[in-house]
Amino acid sequence: MRIIRTVAELRERLEPERRADRSVALVPTMGAFHAGHRSLMEEATARCDVVVVSLFVNPAQFAPGEDLAAYPRDEAKDAAVAAAAGVDVLFAPPVAEVYPDGFATTVRVGGLSESLEGAHRPGHFDGVATVVAKLLNIVGPDVAFFGQKDAQQALIIRRLVRDLDIPTRIAVCPTVREPDGLAMSSRNGYLGAADRARAVALRHALDAAAAAVAAGEREPGAVASSARAAMAPYDVEPEYLALVSADTLAPVERLEEGGETLMLVAARVGPARLIDNAILTTNGSR
Ligand code: PAJ
Repeated sequence: MRIIRTVAELRERLEPERRADRSVALVPTMGAFHAGHRSLMEEATARCDVVVVSLFVNPAQFAPGEDLAAYPRDEAKDAAVAAAAGVDVLFAPPVAEVYPDGFATTVRVGGLSESLEGAHRPGHFDGVATVVAKLLNIVGPDVAFFGQKDAQQALIIRRLVRDLDIPTRIAVCPTVREPDGLAMSSRNGYLGAADRARAVALRHALDAAAAAVAAGEREPGAVASSARAAMAPYDVEPEYLALVSADTLAPVERLEEGGETLMLVAARVGPARLIDNAILTTNGSR
């Protein structure tokens, strides 16, 4: 596996692959790899000939006061994980390579970026959309891999690619969880033992919602109440808990038979801000 730091060198590395008509995958990341990241890398290596993983803690997607400085960084460890997963190139540029002096462009996906995470993290999705647009332009992948863990992000990227006619297919891979159901996240490392035990509240909220729907409940408000009740014993208060259309993020008025409703939850647990989600259907959740 080669570690590359500049756009020019990356393009040079990929040029012969393209000429040989080999398919290229991109897995954008901010590092601190866990099994969720690994699952994206494994899917990418299974589906494409050449796999590029980008490792860039993107300052533009952290609001002032968020955890940019504290965000976990261990490139040597991440490089070993990526190499073991069969990744060909780790693209780990310095900030000035991505945002040189005079950088002045922002990519904003309207509507989808404004609610839920966007409402609680002003500017966050503009930073994500801008850096992902750049990475897609830099790498020019056939397929780019994202996690369902960040469901709103995945929807925004799909819209970005569609709106800007970027010729990359977007693959969204299932959320990888700890044995107790906590979604893997680089931010789980911020949790001490007591908060780690409370963090399962998010998973329990999603399970309680699925159970309510399985029992015949179709009113989003009632489903949300069951979810909130499941979090209460852990003393975890959701920042938001929403049932929305899985395509548009518009609030649903009723869970339709055969339809797919996306339930999203965010909560602060001690020092960490955690998010999770599930697709609720009238015949089960995932
Ligand atoms: P990061 O949080 O490092 O996540 C990189 C990718 O891994 C994202 O697509 C995310 O959805 C996926 N991922 C994270 N946890 C996962 C889990 N438990 N199961 C499955 N997939 C998981 O998301 C970002 O970085 C950034 O916003 C980025 C897209 C790289 C732009 O800077």
